[in-house]
Amino acid sequence: MVRLDFASILFLAAVAVGQRCPANPGRDPSEPPFGQPVTPRPGDVPSGCSPFEILSARGTSESGKFGYRVGDPVIGNVTAVLNGARGYPVQYPASIDFDSGIPIGARDVANRLASQSRLCPDQTFSLIGYSQGAMVIRAALDLIPASLFPKIKSLVFFGDPYYQDPIPGALTAKLLENCATGDNICNSSGTYCPYGHVSYTFPQWVELSEAFIVEGFAA
Ligand SMILES: *[C@@H]1O[C@H](CO)[C@@H](O)[C@H](O)[C@H]1NC(C)=O
Ligand SMILES: *[C@@H]1O[C@H](CO)[C@@H](O)[C@H](O)[C@H]1NC(C)=O
Repeated sequence: MVRLDFASILFLAAVAVGQRCPANPGRDPSEPPFGQPVTPRPGDVPSGCSPFEILSARGTSESGKFGYRVGDPVIGNVTAVLNGARGYPVQYPASIDFDSGIPIGARDVANRLASQSRLCPDQTFSLIGYSQGAMVIRAALDLIPASLFPKIKSLVFFGDPYYQDPIPGALTAKLLENCATGDNICNSSGTYCPYGHVSYTFPQWVELSEAFIVEGFAA
């Protein structure tokens, strides 16, 4: 019989917990059926300057101001602890039509950084994207001039279909990639869990990302 010491048992227990399938996080009843567009609300776009702005690209058909699964809790937590931080909802349809929607979102992110940088030279940014939203942010990085990269303090992806694909070198150290247990969208070789891809709303991911964004702002 194999004998395990106490430390090994703790280690194996931690691995087992880490690999357990996430619980069902529930669903916003106002979320449109999967694949349907979410109507952007220009009224949610903040005006004027702030020290720090978190641009959130929602996942496919995700309702809520910044995205109820990821953007809303993350921005809610960061703004609660960081004076002068605010959110910006990336204006794109987030429908199943990725081919037309992603370029719209990417252009919106690039335009927002350019116009805010002109208007508010001291403003800095975090770019967050969930699922299709991560693809939007990745596509935006091809449009944003490298001269603005120093203003990007952090990037945070959740359930990124291009998980671990490279981004511009100047930004690599500022990227946090969240990939949950059982999320086959970011890890196709991992185990599959029914709620893996929608589990980023849990504090484990929200608070990790909050800490990363707050740290990045101060860096
Ligand atoms: C984040 O927000 C949630 C929901 O509002 C709250 O329960 C939690 O305590 C917050 N966490 C931190 C670290 O601020
Ligand atoms: C994918 O998940 C498996 C376990 O399910 C893990 O061993 C592997 O490291 C993961 N791959 C990546 C790139 O995170």
